[in-house]
Amino acid sequence: MNAAVAAIKPRKPSGLALVPTMGALHEGHAALMRTARESNAAVVVSIYVNPTQFGPNEDFAKYPRPLEADCRICEREGVAVVFAPTDNEMYPGSQPRLRGRGQLAASTWVEELQVAKRLEGERRPSHFHGVCTVVAKLFNIIQPDRAYFGQKDYQQLKVIQRMVRDLCYPIEIVSVPTVREADGLAMSSRNRYLSPDERAQALVLWKALNCARDLFAKGERDPQRLQTAMAQVIATAPAARLDYAEIADGETLEQRQKVKRGDVALIAAFVGATRLIDNLIL
Ligand code: PAJ
Repeated sequence: MNAAVAAIKPRKPSGLALVPTMGALHEGHAALMRTARESNAAVVVSIYVNPTQFGPNEDFAKYPRPLEADCRICEREGVAVVFAPTDNEMYPGSQPRLRGRGQLAASTWVEELQVAKRLEGERRPSHFHGVCTVVAKLFNIIQPDRAYFGQKDYQQLKVIQRMVRDLCYPIEIVSVPTVREADGLAMSSRNRYLSPDERAQALVLWKALNCARDLFAKGERDPQRLQTAMAQVIATAPAARLDYAEIADGETLEQRQKVKRGDVALIAAFVGATRLIDNLIL
């Protein structure tokens, strides 16, 4: 075959992709699978509700686990393997029901200490070392060439990128834009906890992020003013209670003196009893 022909022949995707999930799959997860299929020979989806990333008063017990429906979505998306391990496979020798770092004795932990420090890390103290530990285990078990993460969980994405760099994992981390409902609400497995009225009010997260983006576009560079404006939008929904609304450096997630392009607006808010997060890059 001559060189010109070789150059125009479409390249076959090669390599193995991992899409780590906790199941209750929706279009956001499907977008990760589709993106992974485009540039890999095979895609593995892991489905594991990881006990160590839930705090003691969080929704571990009630987290939805529709494994059969999830497998059908994976099949539809051309996934080669669904890896749905047991607690004992992921945490050998540990007591599966015990959660949080202090409670799982005789184990090894992976922690990222910079990017994980603020925001979610501050409000959910055992969350990111649960995430880092389980993702490190999944990387070691599956040994993918690429792993796919959603921008929906922006801080998680940045923590994992940092962990991969720090621990020299030979894995490319690919980020996928947030998939939203038609009205703008970010898709999330937790949206199914919302009553119809809460579902309607949950839109304030997206409205608040857009408010920050509009003010930034008009020239506002004071993070405090953007944060206050976001909080005011959240306060318009009676069922919503703000946890944080912040502008942070897009890589380190540190606070800003002056907002720059590429910074990220992040919001966490309870709508009724359901805690939702969303973000927007400015
Ligand atoms: P889970 O919440 O199931 O999310 C799995 C992946 O899907 C994450 O990378 C998340 O960012 C992405 N995702 C969720 N909603 C999305 C949306 N609307 N648009 C695009 N991507 C979206 O995140 C976890 O599970 C866990 O922490 C995990 C990484 C699996 C470790 O246990």
